[in-house]
Amino acid sequence: MNGFIPITDDVFYVGVNDRETHLFENMWPLPKGVTYNSYVIKDEKNVLVDTVKVTKMALFLQKLRGLLDGSTIDYLVINHMEPDHSGAILEIVRNYPDVKIVGNAKTFDFLKGFYDIDENLYEVKDGDELVLGKHTLRFYLTPMVHWPETMMTYDIGEQILFAGDAFGGFGSLDGGVFDDEVNIEYFENEIRRYYSNIVGKFGPMVQKALKKLDGLPIKVVASTHGPVWRSNPKRIITSYDRWSRYEADPGVVIVFGSMYGNTEKMADYVARRLAEYGVKDIRVMSSSTTHDSYIINEIWKYKGIIFGSCTYNVGLFPPMESLIKNLSHKGVKNRVYGVFGTYGWSGGGVKTIMQYIENNKWPLVADEVEVKLTPSEEDYRKLDTLAQKMAESIL
Ligand code: FEO
Repeated sequence: MNGFIPITDDVFYVGVNDRETHLFENMWPLPKGVTYNSYVIKDEKNVLVDTVKVTKMALFLQKLRGLLDGSTIDYLVINHMEPDHSGAILEIVRNYPDVKIVGNAKTFDFLKGFYDIDENLYEVKDGDELVLGKHTLRFYLTPMVHWPETMMTYDIGEQILFAGDAFGGFGSLDGGVFDDEVNIEYFENEIRRYYSNIVGKFGPMVQKALKKLDGLPIKVVASTHGPVWRSNPKRIITSYDRWSRYEADPGVVIVFGSMYGNTEKMADYVARRLAEYGVKDIRVMSSSTTHDSYIINEIWKYKGIIFGSCTYNVGLFPPMESLIKNLSHKGVKNRVYGVFGTYGWSGGGVKTIMQYIENNKWPLVADEVEVKLTPSEEDYRKLDTLAQKMAESIL
């Protein structure tokens, strides 16, 4: 976006697109880019809510100057200190030296640590309010959505929730900024990929935050990433509630690691049998060619997960190990699992997956199927049982 965009008469979007960064947090692919959303409330006291990544500072300052037209920023509210939002703070302080920085005690730990700022601070606690003139802001501490200092800011009169990372996702805003200006399905998949990979580990804390906000009239959800929800904010709040309760649809993700096609052959066989048993949503994904974040996104959607792996150096095929380790870290719940795999001269792949299954207490729908080199008729019968039990478990 090149300019500032009004949300109401006094509240403006001043976020920026980033189509240059390849990896969010230097890990998660950004094929559709990302936005860093920031907002201005104009009143007797002007407020800036969150900033942007340091690389986008010049454009950001240009927008602010255009919007403020010589007036100052009185308060900078920091909902979240991760540098994709706090990166421009130092420059804001340099340009607006009297600005008071609004945050909670934990915000200020990060502020001192990252930027050596410990002056002009205005500390708020959960439920505190700040009067700006016509507008009054209320602060909700929502720790671990996504970092310990995370909070949300609610404009009481406008009923706008400035939500930090919550409700946001990957994808640049290519013209349309509001949910009613874009094809929202285009963004929803990337919002779930953001949620499942960045925030998903903290499902119980997201639930706490949602309970805190329960009953609050919300006309607009203004996240720090992705579209601003002004026509149907309930849609994204409901999705967040489902994802953080680990609700899932009756589908199956088969993720496999295969060097020469024998394990992939088993994956395709299980997928076909699942379809015959009535499962309509089946995703067969190669851990070698698909980034973990896309696989985890699908896993967040579906109830059944089947791992299939070849053996590599008497252990698990490394791309599968990366995926399963990453998934263990996310703490996804309410799923059922199946396992199959191959080996050449000694086992290792299936055995290692089974250790992860045991350590995470992931429930298996059927015995694991381990095959030497390529499946026999007897092995296919076992895979058939696995598919049948999986279908029964999820449908
Ligand atoms: Fe968008 Fe947790 O930063």
